[in-house]
Amino acid sequence: MTANTPIRSLDARYYTDPEVFKQEQEGLLASTWQFAGHVSQVEHPGDYFTFEIAGESLFCVRTRDEEIKAFYNVCQHRAHQLVQDQGNTGLIVCPYHSWSYELTGELRGGPNTSSVPGFDKSSVCLTSVRIENFCGFLFANLDPHANSMDEWFPNVRQELCEFVPHIKQLKPIEWIEIPERCNWKVSVENYSECYHCQLNHPTFANGIVKASTYDIQPQGYCLRHTTECQNLDKMSYPIDLDSNKHAGSYSSWYLWPLMSFQVYPGNVLNTYHWRTLDHEHVVVWRGWYSIDGSDAKLIHDLAVQDRETTVEEDIHLVESVQRGLNSRGYVPGPLVVDPKCGVKSEHSVKVLQQWMREGIKQ
Ligand code: FES
Ligand SMILES: [Fe+2]
Repeated sequence: MTANTPIRSLDARYYTDPEVFKQEQEGLLASTWQFAGHVSQVEHPGDYFTFEIAGESLFCVRTRDEEIKAFYNVCQHRAHQLVQDQGNTGLIVCPYHSWSYELTGELRGGPNTSSVPGFDKSSVCLTSVRIENFCGFLFANLDPHANSMDEWFPNVRQELCEFVPHIKQLKPIEWIEIPERCNWKVSVENYSECYHCQLNHPTFANGIVKASTYDIQPQGYCLRHTTECQNLDKMSYPIDLDSNKHAGSYSSWYLWPLMSFQVYPGNVLNTYHWRTLDHEHVVVWRGWYSIDGSDAKLIHDLAVQDRETTVEEDIHLVESVQRGLNSRGYVPGPLVVDPKCGVKSEHSVKVLQQWMREGIKQ
């Protein structure tokens, strides 16, 4: 390939082959930082919640020393699952033979285990998983040797705190679940370019952002979206530009591979979390937040508008693409990579597809 040959989009099998998804589950998804939940779900000692990464059931718990820990959700006796959903407990007790564990993971004991010659309870402990608190959002990584989130996503923590000064006080107020019949990478690619916005997202492109100023640039393993808000007379919801120096900006930080923080004009934080089901199904969770329920009406209205416009419009796009990827007639086309970048360029998809290729090489 010469320097002047346009780069082509990924082969269809990346999106349609169950074997590729299996490799991603075993490698990429088990060695990257994945959103687990929000710190407000483990506010008090003993609070716990379950979550899933790469097909593994895990749980997060706050200990008596106020530490937040995460473990594989599996008993070290004969492998029964330990906890379900969420709750509060002083001890983790397995429902099978009632072995019990401290919130820190050590085995406290089990019925009649003291009768076993040589039984050493200190040698039995739940298997822990790395967890990081990222501005109140908890992320886990199944790879014990993974680099920290600040190394993966340079400057994102500081930028989020600047764009959302109240971020650590936020609590989730809406979780909107959006099933999509497509491979997770189709949905993530669609999220990572605005080449389709003007034609497909009239409310977003005309009533929220000034699409002509849209750009996306890599920042470590983050794709950072930046644009200005629409002129105030055309904005689809009210904002106060004087309230904060970033009130007139839209920005998003997509954290490879399955999470994105978005800040709408007016410093309104919301999140995208892609949950992979199989090679042709993904569920997108849209999270919306406020300080103890403040501004709940404005946020709720914005969440509804977003669900009825941008999100709905994208569902049709990504599901059509998935059907097309299964067509024998599809030959991957050249990406529109404009050296000057900008809204009508797919330079960000080129970067993303490179990460996707590396994701199944491990
Ligand atoms: S499997 Fe948990 S106590 Fe037996
Ligand atoms: Fe879109």
